[in-house]
Amino acid sequence: MKVQSARLDGLGTTIFAEMSALALRTGSINLGQGFPDTDGPDEVIEAAVTAMRTGHNQYTAGLGIAPLREAIAAHQDRWYDLHLDPATEVVVTTGATEALAGALLGLVDPGDEVIVLEPYYDSYVAMIQMAGGVRRPVTLRAPDFRLPVDELRAAVTPRTTAILLNSPHNPTGTVLRREELEAIAALAIEHDLVVISDEVYEHLTFGVPHIPISTLPGMRERTLTISSGGKSFSVTGWKVGWATGPAALVSAVMGVKQFLSYMSGAPLQPAIAHALEFDEPYFTGFRTGMQTQRDQLCEGLDALGFKVFVPEGTYFATTDIRPLGFDDGLDFCRRLPELAGVVAIPHQVFYDDVEAGRPLVRWAFCKRPEVIAEALERLAQLGP
Ligand SMILES: Cc1ncc(COP(=O)(O)O)c(C=O)c1O
Repeated sequence: MKVQSARLDGLGTTIFAEMSALALRTGSINLGQGFPDTDGPDEVIEAAVTAMRTGHNQYTAGLGIAPLREAIAAHQDRWYDLHLDPATEVVVTTGATEALAGALLGLVDPGDEVIVLEPYYDSYVAMIQMAGGVRRPVTLRAPDFRLPVDELRAAVTPRTTAILLNSPHNPTGTVLRREELEAIAALAIEHDLVVISDEVYEHLTFGVPHIPISTLPGMRERTLTISSGGKSFSVTGWKVGWATGPAALVSAVMGVKQFLSYMSGAPLQPAIAHALEFDEPYFTGFRTGMQTQRDQLCEGLDALGFKVFVPEGTYFATTDIRPLGFDDGLDFCRRLPELAGVVAIPHQVFYDDVEAGRPLVRWAFCKRPEVIAEALERLAQLGP
């Protein structure tokens, strides 16, 4: 009896399951997985309850309900001056995860190469593999995790189909700068490549601007931009995401989504449409609150002796663990629950170049200040 396709053999990181199980078993504080421990605004949750109570519980449009597609288009216009046709240039998905799946399965043929920033978000590897594609990692390296433009250029081959970007970047917290985006855009245009741009942390940058690559000259027509209501409104369990871009790319995503889920959480869609229309103070409060938590965690880890790479965006901070006498992040994270009652995630599982990530560990700061304080107190047991 065949139990697994050869294509899926060895697929995926099991680290999140392993670390979450460890956290539960040992009663550890989980700074591993990236979800907030406070729910999003009551108003958004009430809007979903109202939608459930007023008959929004059946299958609806595959592309997403019109009010949500219109709200997504209006959001892109308001924040980035990008003008989209909500009828053809927006698709609502089951989280950004399904948008990524749709993009990679819909645009990549077996043997096609996809350039991807490493360390990578784990679903990129799985989806490129499921599409039969070949990943070409370009590594962001400590200490500054900037884009090595020459390596990016060298990674392009005649088989390259797409560049898969993530900015703000999980797990390094790098936010790509205009000159880096311009270098990517020049390559994409020269080689006629699609850019798939995962921007789920678009509203979580700290003191630096988020620039969607689709706003650069010549990029709107070749960029599929992906984002997530779960991330922007702290309802990660709702899994409402979207992809926007030229009709042909959006239609490639929809062609796959049709057979993955057909449509996504009907009563959650009006609630996210409502949230997208929030005024500036919501987004400012969200960002500054997360920045305060970032500073609390980073200053605390620094005081404990870790080398801390303060992120410019996302939910995550990265540390080098060598100053504390450890050298392997995977081993450190497996022992950390017993040593200190805290769970974190080793970088090395997000690399082909394992050595580049070996001493690095990722910590989530999307947690209440008292939880971060307790985690730091526990980590003090590691001693100098
Ligand atoms: C970089 C990145 N992309 C996509 C996702 C998935 O987003 P969603 O929960 O909307 O599927 C995550 C979630 O952690 C992420 O960090």
